[in-house]
Amino acid sequence: MRLFIDTGSVAEVEEIASWGILAGATTNPSLLAKEDGDPGEIIRRICDLVGGPVSAEVVSRDPEGMIAEGRALRELHEHVTVKVPFSSEGLAATHALTAAAIPVNMTLVFSANQALLAAGAGATYVSCFMGRLDDISVDSGGVLAEIVECFRAGGVTSQVIAASVRHPEHVITAAQLGCEIATVPAKVLRQMLEHPLTTAGAERFRRDWESRPEFGEWLRTLVEERASTTSR
Ligand code: E4P
Repeated sequence: MRLFIDTGSVAEVEEIASWGILAGATTNPSLLAKEDGDPGEIIRRICDLVGGPVSAEVVSRDPEGMIAEGRALRELHEHVTVKVPFSSEGLAATHALTAAAIPVNMTLVFSANQALLAAGAGATYVSCFMGRLDDISVDSGGVLAEIVECFRAGGVTSQVIAASVRHPEHVITAAQLGCEIATVPAKVLRQMLEHPLTTAGAERFRRDWESRPEFGEWLRTLVEERASTTSR
């Protein structure tokens, strides 16, 4: 499963992209509204940093407006994927945009029926919101499983994005179910790093190594010797 970052913050993308784990990003109007600066510049910068698909969302309610915004957003950067909210108008816009070879991420999908309609309209990605389903006591894992099963059974090529990810367990569920992508907030990506045994283990390795100061000296010399031979 590929990992996207779900954010409107360039600083967060800079931080997490440096880990080498990002395959793309998703933004939405709420995330971008929290940021200072020009949204176009933010989207372009995120595209450069992740070097993969970056979803930028349309806000019009009618298909013509969505299509016009989608075409304009796509021209910001070659990595832009147009994010279209689910609705009958959104389906029409998705159909038109994908017919023009513009990739679409259909968002705000909460059921397998909606996902099948999104795929039918040609969406490249279908985003199912886990956290918001859990918020209304609907089992998000069950809905995602249904979507993945329907797509596999019917040979649907649209990729499933697990979105509205609230904690690391959501990421594991999405991967186990066979989602192609999870789009994950920076906070949850940082939580995924943590394990008390890793911290304790690293501390112990460091202490044991430091108990032999001559080993530290040996390693420093090894590094310096290599640096002097490669700089020649
Ligand atoms: C997905 O692309 C959305 O931007 C996002 O995951 C929404 O998450 P939220 O429910 O935490 O706002």
